[in-house]
Amino acid sequence: MALIEVRGLTTLFGPRPQAGLALWRQGLDKAALLAHGHVLALQSVSLDIQPGEIFVIMGLSGSGKSTLVRHLNGLQRPTAGQVWIGEDELTVLPSRRLNALRRQRLAMVFQRFGLLAHRSVLDNVAFGLELRGVAAREREARARHWIERVGLQGWEAHRPAQLSGGMQQRVGLARALCSDTDIILMDEAFSALDPLIRSQLQGELLSLQAELGRTIVFITHDLDEALRIGSRVAILRDGAVLQVGTPRELLLQPTDAHVAAFVADVNRARALRVDSALAPWPAGQPAPAPERAVDADATLEQVLPRLVGRQAPLAVRRGGAVVGQVALDEVRALLVPPE
Ligand SMILES: Nc1ncnc2c1ncn2[C@@H]1O[C@H](COP(=O)(O)OP(=O)(O)OP(=O)(O)O)[C@@H](O)[C@H]1O
Ligand SMILES: [Mg+2]
Repeated sequence: MALIEVRGLTTLFGPRPQAGLALWRQGLDKAALLAHGHVLALQSVSLDIQPGEIFVIMGLSGSGKSTLVRHLNGLQRPTAGQVWIGEDELTVLPSRRLNALRRQRLAMVFQRFGLLAHRSVLDNVAFGLELRGVAAREREARARHWIERVGLQGWEAHRPAQLSGGMQQRVGLARALCSDTDIILMDEAFSALDPLIRSQLQGELLSLQAELGRTIVFITHDLDEALRIGSRVAILRDGAVLQVGTPRELLLQPTDAHVAAFVADVNRARALRVDSALAPWPAGQPAPAPERAVDADATLEQVLPRLVGRQAPLAVRRGGAVVGQVALDEVRALLVPPE
C-alpha cells in the first residue's frame, strides 16, 4: 500500500478559489483563469508514493512543486482533492493532530538550509528531537551519530555561518535524519550547491537511503538530478502531472510530447543507474567475489569501462546483497535506443 496518496489535488490562489475551481471544471486553462484573477497552481494531481522510495517531483520554475510539497506537509489546504499519509487524511485533520503528525512523521530539508543561525551544528541537528521532548543526553548522542554519518565530525560546536554551503546542507540532512521520521521532504535541497558538491551529496543520499530505507520526496527542477536519484519521477508542468515513471521509463517510453522534449538531450550514461539495466541473478549461481560486483546506484558511465571487452555480466550489489546482474548488451540498448 502507498505511504502517501494524493488524489485529485487542485489548488487555486486568488480571492475566490471555489469560483476559480468552477471555471476550471468548465474547461478554462491556466492562462484563461489568470485573466479572471485566479492562479491555477495544481490541477488534478494524483500520486501514490511507496514506502522506501525516493520519489522525485520534477518541473520547471512555477510548475507547482513547492505548492505540492506544502500540501504533503499540511501547510497548504487544497481547493479540491485529498492527501493521505497512511491512515490519516491530512486535508481534514484537526490542527493539533496535524502538528503531531508533522513532528513524528515528516522532516524537511530546504534549499536555503533553514538552519538556526544562533545555535551550534549539534543543537541544529538535535532540534527535531528537542521539539519532541527527547531528553538532552539522548538527543545529543543521536545528533552526534548523524553528524558523523554526514561527515561533519569535529564541527559540532560551530555555528552554521562558519560552514560552507555544502556543509550547511549536510547539517540540514543530518537534522532531517536525526528527527527519525519515516518521511523526508526535500525541496530543491541541492539546487544552491556547486555541481561537484551537489553530485557528491546525491551519491551520499543514495547510499544513506540504501541503508535506511526512509521515504523521501525530493523536489528538483533539474532533470539530470531527478533521473540520478529517483526511484520514480513525476514530471509536473503547469500544475499537472504529465508522467510518472522510473528513470528508464521516462527516457525510453515518454508518453507525452513535453516529456519527450525534456528528456531528449539527457546524457543517459550519466543519468541512468545500473539498476535501470538490472537482470535477475541466475538461480543457483554462487555469489560473486566482491571485485566482480558493481553498486546498483553507480551510473552506467561508471560501469561501462568494466563491462566493455568482457563476455560475462557483472553482479550488482546494494547494501552488501546481490540484487541482480548487468550485461553490456542491456547497457548498450539503454544508451543507444533503436531508431
Ligand atoms: N501564495 C501564493 N499566492 C498566489 N500564487 C501563488 C502562491 N504560491 C504559489 N503561487 C503560484 O502557484 C504557481 C506554482 O508556484 P510554486 O512556487 O509551487 O512553483 P515551483 O514549481 O515551486 O517553482 P520554483 O521552481 O520557482 O520554486 C505559480 O504560478 C505561482 O505564481
Ligand atoms: Mg519552488
